[in-house]
Amino acid sequence: WIAQPSDILLFGATGDLAGRKLYPALYCLFRDGHLPGGCRILGLARTDQSAAEFTAIIHAKLQEFAPEGEYEAAVWERFSAALDYTPLDVHDPEAFVAVAERLGDRSGRPLIHYLSTSPSLYGAICAGLDHAGLAGAQARVVIEKPIGTDLASSRVINDAVDAVFPEASIYRIDHYLGKETVQNLLALRFANGIFEPRWNSAGVDHVQVTVSETVGVEGRWGYYDDSGAMRDMVQNHILQLVSLVAMEPPASLDPDAVRDEKVKVLRALRPIRDRDIESSTVRGQYRAGAIDGKAVPGYLEEPGCKPGSRTETFVALRAEIDNWRWAGVPFYLRTGKRMPHRYSEIVVQFRDVPHDLFAPENADVQANKLVIRLQPQEGIQLQMMYKVRGLGGGMKLQKAELNLSTEDFKPPRNAYERLLFDVVRGNQTLFVRRDEVEVAWRWVDDIMQAWQSETSAPKHYSAGTWGPTSAIALAERNGHSWHE
Ligand code: BG6
Repeated sequence: WIAQPSDILLFGATGDLAGRKLYPALYCLFRDGHLPGGCRILGLARTDQSAAEFTAIIHAKLQEFAPEGEYEAAVWERFSAALDYTPLDVHDPEAFVAVAERLGDRSGRPLIHYLSTSPSLYGAICAGLDHAGLAGAQARVVIEKPIGTDLASSRVINDAVDAVFPEASIYRIDHYLGKETVQNLLALRFANGIFEPRWNSAGVDHVQVTVSETVGVEGRWGYYDDSGAMRDMVQNHILQLVSLVAMEPPASLDPDAVRDEKVKVLRALRPIRDRDIESSTVRGQYRAGAIDGKAVPGYLEEPGCKPGSRTETFVALRAEIDNWRWAGVPFYLRTGKRMPHRYSEIVVQFRDVPHDLFAPENADVQANKLVIRLQPQEGIQLQMMYKVRGLGGGMKLQKAELNLSTEDFKPPRNAYERLLFDVVRGNQTLFVRRDEVEVAWRWVDDIMQAWQSETSAPKHYSAGTWGPTSAIALAERNGHSWHE
């Protein structure tokens, strides 16, 4: 695969994701020699325009969205020669035959299909590819989230894709898995022996995962309103982070060895139903407020909104994993739009030392805390106690941090670059298997169903705050507080 010139078909080529992330990622891979020489990238979408017009648009997108300082005119010259475009009606099977003819003699050329369209079109696209002889084990297909809006609809989509591609050819993308720090989580846990003996209910008091965004719905109110924070972020990105933090050590980095362990965590998530909905979940919706001193509208004042929507833009959950390692350890999960700062992090709060030698002089000896920061600045921080220098004050302690800033090594890359690199290499470790998607939906479905049957609406929070106050109470009820 790697050595041979290949064909990459990008469905949804005129979409936002393609322009902002996918073409810039392909450009960087091409520049670094990670795409086979002689590869062709055929963009497909409804828009009726010529290949030259489309290429000019991608040129502008790259100048805007390629990582800082990475756009080079000479590289663009070579890259643009690989680009092509043709309009396509995905509901017309014969149009796929025309695409196959456009590709010409493909003998032995590997094929990659990237489906960056609405998931409601995946079935039609897969059937069209099959009709034109472009499916099966000769090809790899990459599909974007959301795979469905619940377990039942995700099965329909997965069935349609499975009907023409074997699981070994299906790459379900969760772009969080392409983030450097997420991969570093594997290195942190399994290339360092010091954490593992305490990485369990005896050593860990609780875990927190926060994905906080300052943006609102970014002009896609319609999509977001059908989805909400639970389906948009928790079902995929956040549960993927939980599974990597909580999984047992896999026997190897073989894709199925890792995914087998991840799915076991998802299966062990305790269902949240009935009375637990009240005590373990909080959903919120932002009202007008200010971010960085700038006034922003509320969710129900955004362009395109429908009055009275009960869609949540914030979720906080108290989850539990019912297995030997994690019994009794709360996992606090939270995500929201229009929060005061943009950051994503995982916090592992260790337990107190068994006997405090330093009290009463040091009223606040604090237990160790490991903070794994995904963005904006990537890094890993271990909070520790140490003695204040000097004679006075006897044994006075203070808090300090061991900092590992992974950005000092290399600037972060677009997560899609890493993931596309793995598609070309045929490595599925950082892709989500069908059973993971479905088990995650099952857990989320319970909560969504309970919310739908509730008569109460999401709680309000002002844009620029940390969500409804009940989210703070959710942690405080157990004597914990969110790390900020
Ligand atoms: C996407 C969601 O999957 O992830 C968006 O659909 C969200 O709503 C985005 O803004 C966040 O990604 P990142 O990489 O900016 O944290």
